[in-house]
Amino acid sequence: MNLRSGRLKGKMTSDAAQFTSSLDFDQRIFLADIQCNLAHTTMLKEQGIIPEDDADQILQALNELEEEGIDALDIDPSVEDIHMALENYVTSKVGEVAGFMHTGKSRNDQVATDLRLVLREELSTIQAHLLKFISGILDLADRHTETVMVGYTHLQHAQPTTFAHHLLSYAYALKRDYERVKDAYKRVDMCPLGSAALTTTSFPIDRKRTCELLGFSKILKNSIDGVSSRDFISETVSSLSILCITLSKICEELIIWSTYEFGLIEIAGEYSSTSSIMPQKKNPDVAEIARAKCAGVYGELVAILTILKSLPQSYNRDLQEVTPHLWSAVDSSHSLLNITADMLSTTEFNQERGEELAEANFSTATELADLMVKEKKLPFRVAHQIVGRTVSKAIEEGLKPSDINPKYIDMVAQELTGENLKLDGKLVKNALDPKKVVRTRNVIGGPAPEMVEEAISNLREFVDREIK
Ligand code: ARG
Repeated sequence: MNLRSGRLKGKMTSDAAQFTSSLDFDQRIFLADIQCNLAHTTMLKEQGIIPEDDADQILQALNELEEEGIDALDIDPSVEDIHMALENYVTSKVGEVAGFMHTGKSRNDQVATDLRLVLREELSTIQAHLLKFISGILDLADRHTETVMVGYTHLQHAQPTTFAHHLLSYAYALKRDYERVKDAYKRVDMCPLGSAALTTTSFPIDRKRTCELLGFSKILKNSIDGVSSRDFISETVSSLSILCITLSKICEELIIWSTYEFGLIEIAGEYSSTSSIMPQKKNPDVAEIARAKCAGVYGELVAILTILKSLPQSYNRDLQEVTPHLWSAVDSSHSLLNITADMLSTTEFNQERGEELAEANFSTATELADLMVKEKKLPFRVAHQIVGRTVSKAIEEGLKPSDINPKYIDMVAQELTGENLKLDGKLVKNALDPKKVVRTRNVIGGPAPEMVEEAISNLREFVDREIK
């Protein structure tokens, strides 16, 4: 049946048909559209809205289509979209009784339902992969609770930490990313079917039944909202964008840490490239591409928000243009997630270099100042000044942290306060030893191995709870 033959004279130009068709990206909702029609037709039949025999024929044709697959459809652009292509298929099988299928239903509630059905699946898979990633990070962290490295602020040496502690900073960020996606899922998992064009229908449809048949948790309670709302899309893509920020930061660190200057990690050959001219090169191309591809996801978010901004309520064809941006964001973030997870889990940490850097550049200075507060009851600001001056003097004189002893500190203390601190030599040595310093940071969230082990086990419990 030609949809246009009633109200309109003739066809769209082929350019206009191509321009407005959603068939390209509708392929993604093909199976969902069958599900949606199956549920709606079943409900129409149960409610006695359409003849039982006709309903059965329609249901059978839909089941056949599911088996035959999308290739059985005529997807010429003049067909407009998957909903019409599918209806045409059913008509070709059962004749014009196929038209009953569209009783009390519109493509407006249908497309909104289909998108939600597909997105539910996508988000479930992304959630599962996020848990797998977190779990992989925990396995890696478990092997590195004693692996000392320097922690950075401003990308300058700051304080000693461990590789495991740093890895857990990724794990916790990813846990929140997971929770955001899980939360977005709740609002994807709502059923607009039965909203019809925008004001429902006078047929006695049973919205609860179609909601149940499609496995949705809730019904969208207002039919205008049912066909207009795409906040489930902007929320999903926002949460994916935030996830991509975490992923891009991980990739960035893999890139920086694998430089000769840092030398902290070795990215696996499988995730590296070489140069066509410089034979010595090992480049972190996968991480670089990943870092860049995240930008595409933010671009999709901005496109989606911009399409939705100021749209009048109810259905506007503009909504169709949101869909390809949604799938692009979903696909990109999903592949970014998987590639980053695999790359990180195969990365080797250079323990020796970690220690070398942690020991080289006064990253333990805070602990030395803390020691003065603890042992000599100096106000922290005074201790800060003495240590700052000590470090500066040591650097001028070409001394290393391990060369600093109580006598050296007292030369500065004397000059600044007129008094000697007479710190205990052993305590000074310990305060300047990155491994020992890390052990003393045993408050919640700190890098002490036992705290990190506890965090690993808490996160493992979280992952196990969520997987089941
Ligand atoms: N293809 C459309 C979309 O993706 C659904 C059809 C609604 N079309 C209409 N003319 N009301 O949004």
